[in-house]
Amino acid sequence: MCGIIGYVGVEDALPILRDGLSNLEYRGYDSAGIALGGGSVDVYKRKGELSALKEILPQKSTTTTGIGHTRWSTHGEPTDANAHPHTDESGDVAVVHNGIIENYDELKTELEERGHTFTSETDTEVVPHLIEEELATGRDLVDAVSAVVERLSGNFALCVVAAGHEGIVATRQGNPLVMGHTDDGTFLASDVPAFVEHTRRVSYPEAGDVIHVTDGEATVYADGERVSRDVVEVDWDAEAAEKGGYEHYMLKEIHEQPTALRQTISGRIDEMNGEADLELDLPTEYLNSLEEVQFVACGTSYHAGLYAAKLFEEYADVRASAEIASEYEFDGGRDPWRTLVVAVTQSGETADTLSALQRAKRAGAKTLAVTNTLGSTVTREVEDTVFIRAGPEIGVAATKTFCSQVATLALLTVYVGRQRGTVSSSEARELLSDLRGLPGAVQQVLDREEQVRVAAEEYVDGDAFFFIGRRLGAPVALEGALKLKEISYDHAEGFPSGELKHGPLALVTPETPVLAVLTEGTNAEETLNNVKEVESRGAPVIGCVSEGMDDAGKFVDEVFEVPELGELEPLVANVYFQLFSYHVANLKGRSIDKPRNLAKSVTVE
Ligand code: F6R
Repeated sequence: MCGIIGYVGVEDALPILRDGLSNLEYRGYDSAGIALGGGSVDVYKRKGELSALKEILPQKSTTTTGIGHTRWSTHGEPTDANAHPHTDESGDVAVVHNGIIENYDELKTELEERGHTFTSETDTEVVPHLIEEELATGRDLVDAVSAVVERLSGNFALCVVAAGHEGIVATRQGNPLVMGHTDDGTFLASDVPAFVEHTRRVSYPEAGDVIHVTDGEATVYADGERVSRDVVEVDWDAEAAEKGGYEHYMLKEIHEQPTALRQTISGRIDEMNGEADLELDLPTEYLNSLEEVQFVACGTSYHAGLYAAKLFEEYADVRASAEIASEYEFDGGRDPWRTLVVAVTQSGETADTLSALQRAKRAGAKTLAVTNTLGSTVTREVEDTVFIRAGPEIGVAATKTFCSQVATLALLTVYVGRQRGTVSSSEARELLSDLRGLPGAVQQVLDREEQVRVAAEEYVDGDAFFFIGRRLGAPVALEGALKLKEISYDHAEGFPSGELKHGPLALVTPETPVLAVLTEGTNAEETLNNVKEVESRGAPVIGCVSEGMDDAGKFVDEVFEVPELGELEPLVANVYFQLFSYHVANLKGRSIDKPRNLAKSVTVE
């Protein structure tokens, strides 16, 4: 939430910042702004998407230093005044910020008492005023920012330019900030897509680092001492972060799933021996003593955790649950040493998940992360990480990362089950062979997109949409409903099928299409009873039905056929739900890649 960017180099900073912001817009699009530094400070900012800012930006500039921001509002509505960059009264200090400054109210009161005036409702605006005071004491910009950071509480990443001070000073505390390095320039940004067209050489500042980027040099300070941070090469390029001919990133990412899944499983399956190789270092003795696995996550990642918990109980023979991160407490008399807490997070930056993880760590539990994002905060918080390798996901609605998360967690299931000796090599081989078949099965569904588009046309005017499924179909039902509601703005709900009759059935009418998961791994026979219940109330039913289950097909109005793939069939059915949601939203002309009120990376609790 909120994207920040900075550039110092030899090229005109303006087009670089403008293009970089367009690649960060998935993090927020309530307003955008740029401050050009080097000598004086010139600020351009505007409410609305980046296109609104572009209307007031000059075509080019003569400066090679600048910072930019794209906003997801937390404090104060989306207005021109609340847009970043924020400045002090003189306009000489400009700041862009991602995160929340928790003690801003008290700092603001203090500053007002000393005669400062504020023009916005944001928490950020205290920062340029505080820096202005520090500069007035004769400090240089690095020392001024370092002194101000000491006074801020909360999680944030900041970039600062000031008139008469060379380059940019930046810092991070909890929120993401990555540096990109070229031979003659340095980038700072919330995420790699902001600059990946210029360089794939990146480094990741640690929390608390203060960075001074000047012409040709980037100096990192930790506790006042000069330190160096390793430069690594990211393994994806600019093309991977572009739309590649698709109308929306979301559609592109849905279609990328076979490739993403191949990357996820590549080199990790030893089918002959029924083993999964995740390069993890979890001692067998520890895994044997495990009493419980908890998957902590939010939204779509929580649904991946629900899927994984079922697989874990079955194959690894250990109590497993998915926990909504914002509700998480480490309580109930659990033995920390016997509890493995797995944070599932695409971005690796979700504040709710990170704070749940902190609670688990404080209690003494062992922690693991399953994430898509190299260098993300979660990777520094846990003892070990498994990357899902899905490639960059730009559309706000998670699609390919859900699929790759579940596939990675299925590999983790085999890994843990085999170490614990609870799954035989032949059972493991079966699940691993389904994993190998997953990219092909997903491709078969993608090849039937036209059928889904036509169905979307038929049902687009539904009053509400219900998604039902049992066992492994239940998380997929929840995920289907989440996808549809977030991009179409229609009322959509997902339930374990058996729950329908305990209340939601009252809402079912001929205007409420019901989408059911009727595949292997979902107790489809029982869900069919629920299908009959809704049909007798006149609701049309779309069923994702396994290839072999011809009987089930007879009871639904539309069959989306799912290739045979054992316990992974519900995951394949989910691809139908993604396509259905996409086409319903597209028919309604919704802002699919940037749904209202949402952001890709939710870095506030
Ligand atoms: C929905 C969606 C969100 C995220 C959630 C957690 O399409 O993308 O529900 O899944 O905000 O994000 P991560 O996985 O980055 O922790």
